[in-house]
Amino acid sequence: MQTRIKAALCATLLSAIPLAAADSLVADSTVLLAGETFQMNYLTETPASQNIYVATVVDGNLLFLDENGGLVPYTAGQPTPARLKAPAAGSYKVISFTMPEGFYRNFTFYKATGKPGSDLLAAGNYDAASLRTLSVSFTAKPGTAGAAAVNGGALYAAHCSSCHNEDPTGNLGNILKGTDPLATTAAIKNPAGKMGHLAALTSDEITAIAAWISHPRFDCH
Ligand code: HEC
Repeated sequence: MQTRIKAALCATLLSAIPLAAADSLVADSTVLLAGETFQMNYLTETPASQNIYVATVVDGNLLFLDENGGLVPYTAGQPTPARLKAPAAGSYKVISFTMPEGFYRNFTFYKATGKPGSDLLAAGNYDAASLRTLSVSFTAKPGTAGAAAVNGGALYAAHCSSCHNEDPTGNLGNILKGTDPLATTAAIKNPAGKMGHLAALTSDEITAIAAWISHPRFDCH
């Protein structure tokens, strides 16, 4: 990457990282293999005076985590289940489960504070400034270290950046679809993209590239 472009890119990325978050959603790992435990915590530096709601979207349905960590579909006009009730400052486990085999998904979790006992999404019931998101990729690989050991960023730079740009977030050539390894595998087989020469990439490598596209980190020294 040219030094000038790289410096500009790094400056943009660094300024986008908040120095201290008053509250956040944190996962031990944002890319997991089958058999590994996914755990996500809610972290707050100050006590919350309102309820904490945590949601995700599965197959187009908005689901909220309830007090026990179960997923409940959102219903307009009904009280929205809250995950935590006005917690004190600290770290709280909000969801934990073991990755099933044969599964690839990229989830975004949403967190917001809002009025208890109300339809959270009805006007005025949730605090837009409190919204936090966290994107998590789950892979379909069996429980081996293989995919994790491959450097997705280096592979992307070597095999993809010439056509899709060094920075995938611009979505040149629909590269953001590549957060799903199956989309990249399909694109390699499609003559339109002239990506056929990439057929030699292993599924571990494609999975590592997919994980990196989801959370690109650039080397900023
Ligand atoms: C030789 C240039 C070239 C290289 C190298 C290349 N791509 Fe592509 N890619 C394309 C073009 C062109 C398209 C758009 C194809 C189309 O419109 O059907 C595309 C499309 C895609 C898509 C979108 C497919 C869709 O469903 O719309 C994905 C995902 C993708 N590439 C991933 C990758 C990844 C990952 C790499 C590196 C491993 C890579 N590409 C390397 C040229 C390239």
